[in-house]
Amino acid sequence: MREDTVTIEIDGRACEVRKGAMVIEAADAAGIAIPRFCYHKKLTVAANCRMCLVEVERAPKPLPACATPVMDGMKVFTTSETARGAQRSVMEFLLINHPLDCPICDQGGECELQDLAMGYGRGVSRFTERKRVVPDKNLGPLIATDMTRCIHCTRCVRFGSEVAGLTELGATGRGEDMRIGTFIERSVDSELSGNVIDVCPVGALTSKPFRFRARAWEMVQREAIAAHDAVGSNLHVHVRRGRVMRVVPRENEAVNEVWLSDRDRFSYEGLYAPDRLPPPRGGGDDGQGRGTDWGVGRGAGAGGPPAVGAAAGGASARGAPGPPASTTARSAPAAASSATSQSVSRHCPSSPRPRGARSRSGA
Ligand code: SF4
Ligand code: FES
Repeated sequence: MREDTVTIEIDGRACEVRKGAMVIEAADAAGIAIPRFCYHKKLTVAANCRMCLVEVERAPKPLPACATPVMDGMKVFTTSETARGAQRSVMEFLLINHPLDCPICDQGGECELQDLAMGYGRGVSRFTERKRVVPDKNLGPLIATDMTRCIHCTRCVRFGSEVAGLTELGATGRGEDMRIGTFIERSVDSELSGNVIDVCPVGALTSKPFRFRARAWEMVQREAIAAHDAVGSNLHVHVRRGRVMRVVPRENEAVNEVWLSDRDRFSYEGLYAPDRLPPPRGGGDDGQGRGTDWGVGRGAGAGGPPAVGAAAGGASARGAPGPPASTTARSAPAAASSATSQSVSRHCPSSPRPRGARSRSGA
């Protein structure tokens, strides 16, 4: 054993873990699934959802795995009667106020709460009182809200203050009166705002442009690289019947980690904008010509824009960059022909699915 590691036992399996690590990190490294909502590997620990409760030998009560540091010789039980009882109780508690509107929720099929409710929820609710209702916030043109679904995990709040560097969202009130919002009526304007859609484990924050457009299981996932800046963020393009429906981050620790800028995330909308430069036409006997690609069109003098950088000052003569070279248009179909189809995952990987669930690529 090295000096900077300790040995603990999780579900009877010995694990060598870095000193100071949390039990949930050790379990993740060992491939042992612990349910969680507020924990995100890129954010600080809040330990406010309590979904990750586990039994620890000699501890008087279940402990949150995301906030319990490992200690040498520690014995952790994630599936014992005590641990499972605690996890099921927390799930029941969360579902007291969370609406059961999965059929009309945009998060359906890729919701962490929906997944975990399958494994830890009760078939019948004991709650007969009225559920609370929270008015929706208008956060601007990119993020749709359904705040009645919020489970107060505060991932979106921590993302703003710890990653985006702008504390735009916060929590006000306590207990049942707690609300996530912008304090005063305003939109969320950070250039990274779309990431709160990914970190939200339920359908409280979803993508406005993508809203009600497709279900996760209807799309195929292609790998691509963002072409909008020098970062070259790694992307997944989600395509349904040849049409790009949305763009989400692809994890790459060396480049964009698990985040994506709004420009990279939402600019796919430009692919189908009505004022987009149409493809050149050439050939054909009917005088109308057939659609052709930019290379052919340019060579035949069909009026397409010159190559980017060819005109004076490097700008296109029409001010319109050649589409395939400068947007995700090329990335998506090109990748479509070469990349392997994968199951669709909206979330960045912080949350292993419960046992028995379909595994997600990139997670
Ligand atoms: S809006 Fe989503 S991410 Fe934010 S606190 Fe609520 S559940 Fe968590
Ligand atoms: S308390 Fe551990 S994941 Fe929320």
